[in-house]
Amino acid sequence: MEFEKVIKERKSIRKFESREVENEKLENIIECARLCQSAKNRQPWSFMILKDEAKNNIADIMLSLFEKNDINIPGYMNSSKSSANVIKNAPVLILVFRENDENWLIGDLLSIGAAIEHICLEAVNLGLGSLWIRDTVYTEKEICKSVGYSDLQLVSAIAIGYSAESPSQRPRKSTSEILISKR
Ligand SMILES: Cc1cc2nc3c(=O)[nH]c(=O)nc-3n(C[C@H](O)[C@H](O)[C@H](O)COP(=O)(O)O)c2cc1C
Repeated sequence: MEFEKVIKERKSIRKFESREVENEKLENIIECARLCQSAKNRQPWSFMILKDEAKNNIADIMLSLFEKNDINIPGYMNSSKSSANVIKNAPVLILVFRENDENWLIGDLLSIGAAIEHICLEAVNLGLGSLWIRDTVYTEKEICKSVGYSDLQLVSAIAIGYSAESPSQRPRKSTSEILISKR
């Protein structure tokens, strides 16, 4: 697909068809993440592809937050419930981890954000939809433990599959709002 079309067509997808994503497409997606640039070329990322029960376990961990009667869930955490339901509905979930090294925190997070965008754009290129999910943050430690990587930081997750919706472009600031001049 033409590059600009890929950028314009990428939208957050929250409803997916149940059909499986071909392994070859998932390989292409990880390859696009692998080729991403990174601060000091540290490539501070690792990715885990989950499907079926392993994927649903992540959603269950996120939903378990809301089953504890003894804690007051702040309103901003409520989106975690809908993100967990997107994970259940999607055929594939990619977990994105960062090596824990506080010396490189910002550079590494910027690099991982860029790699995640490579993934989301390549998904469009391959006819797939995706949702970048940061709502994993409230249960990050539990998720890392459940997949056997308590030593890593879970930065985000990405739900991937064939889209079952065609959302319109979400609002964006105008160019004049974001392009500033020297004071
Ligand atoms: C860093 C980041 C974290 C996000 N986390 C979530 C999330 O946890 N749940 C969700 O439904 N959407 C999440 N999104 C998607 C945004 O809500 C979405 O990109 C934004 O509303 C603009 O819509 P669009 O992607 O369709 O252009 C996230 C996006 C980014 C870039």
